[in-house]
Amino acid sequence: MTNYLVTGGCGFIGSNFIKFIMGFSDTTVCNIDKLTYAGNPLNLLEFENDERYSFYRVDICDKKKVETIFKSRKIDIVVHFAAESHVDRSILSGIEFVKTNVEGTQSLIDVSRDYSVQQFIHVSTDEVYGSIKEPGKFTEKSELHPNSPYAASKASSDLMVLAAIRTHDFPAKITRCSNNYGPFQYPEKLIPLMVSNILEGKSLPIYGTGANIRDWIYVDDHCEGIYSVITKGRAGEVYNIGGRSEIKNIDLVHKIADELGVVPTIDFVKDRLAHDERYAIDFSKISKECDWHPNIGLERGLKNTISWYENNTGWLDKVKSNEYITYYKAQYEKS
Ligand code: NAD
Ligand code: TYD
Repeated sequence: MTNYLVTGGCGFIGSNFIKFIMGFSDTTVCNIDKLTYAGNPLNLLEFENDERYSFYRVDICDKKKVETIFKSRKIDIVVHFAAESHVDRSILSGIEFVKTNVEGTQSLIDVSRDYSVQQFIHVSTDEVYGSIKEPGKFTEKSELHPNSPYAASKASSDLMVLAAIRTHDFPAKITRCSNNYGPFQYPEKLIPLMVSNILEGKSLPIYGTGANIRDWIYVDDHCEGIYSVITKGRAGEVYNIGGRSEIKNIDLVHKIADELGVVPTIDFVKDRLAHDERYAIDFSKISKECDWHPNIGLERGLKNTISWYENNTGWLDKVKSNEYITYYKAQYEKS
């Protein structure tokens, strides 16, 4: 048996990752999640009565509670997803990002060391590198140059993990992935927000001119990438994960509208502050060392994603709670 502790497993990527590893019968998963606005236990309803799965509603900053969980069971591998994850929210207020992403990560490192876990996977982002002009790509050796409070908090947590590796020989690995999309993504991020607005007949807010470029990866490819790092990656190393799908925001939004068969009403709104122009990932290290590459191209991934949202409007309605409405007003209806 391999016993995983997954943090943030009720969020977008965490829940997809748990579905993926629960597919291996010799696996148990203990999911700890605070259930912020972004955490949704309904994402994992299928495991409610599965004895290989357990869930604890716990804040990773609450060291005592986290320790109680480690004390009560054997944990082999920690996969750390829990985070405040949205750039626009970090611009509205950064403090929760420092608490969860920096303090929470350090606390989890400390408990994981005390209980001698075999591996600690720190799930990070390409945003720690900042923005890069064409034709450059970020490698694992690129300088850390975060521009948003979100990216700065993730870079800080990466540095705490690297410090634990160097100081304590902590058996951690860091993954830095590009923009994910797929089922169960909260509709604050670009793709589900655009799909949700189209389904509601609302206009589509594009920051600036829509010329910013992101490299999109289907969430299943990211989950397989993380798994390949767990099984084949070297301790103490950083691995970039990319989707090989760079596109300008405006072109992506037109693709989404085409797929949904609508002529979009685009609203070019005030640009995001310190808006990174372009992200682009060199993922040759994980390809060579872990034999991983993305399998699902943007066309297929978008089709899957859009049809998932069309078939799961109940899920979408539930997550668009009062909190979402308040956030949407603060973000998009400010003067
Ligand atoms: P998400 O916002 O959908 O989910 C985050 C989860 O963490 C939620 O379930 C939330 O309840 C939980 N959480 C937040 N604070 C917590 C706390 N203090 N204690 C316990 N649980 C807490 O995020 P996501 O998009 O699934 O991202 C997961 C991870 O992957 C993050 O670390 C993020 O930085 C990283 N990442 C995301 C992307 C992306 O495109 N979404 C790309 C690269 C890396
Ligand atoms: P987002 O999904 O928030 O991911 P990130 O900022 O982490 O890359 O945004 C992706 C791109 O889409 C980014 O360039 C900002 C842009 N964007 C908009 O133009 N309008 C929106 O409403 C949102 C949420 C994002």
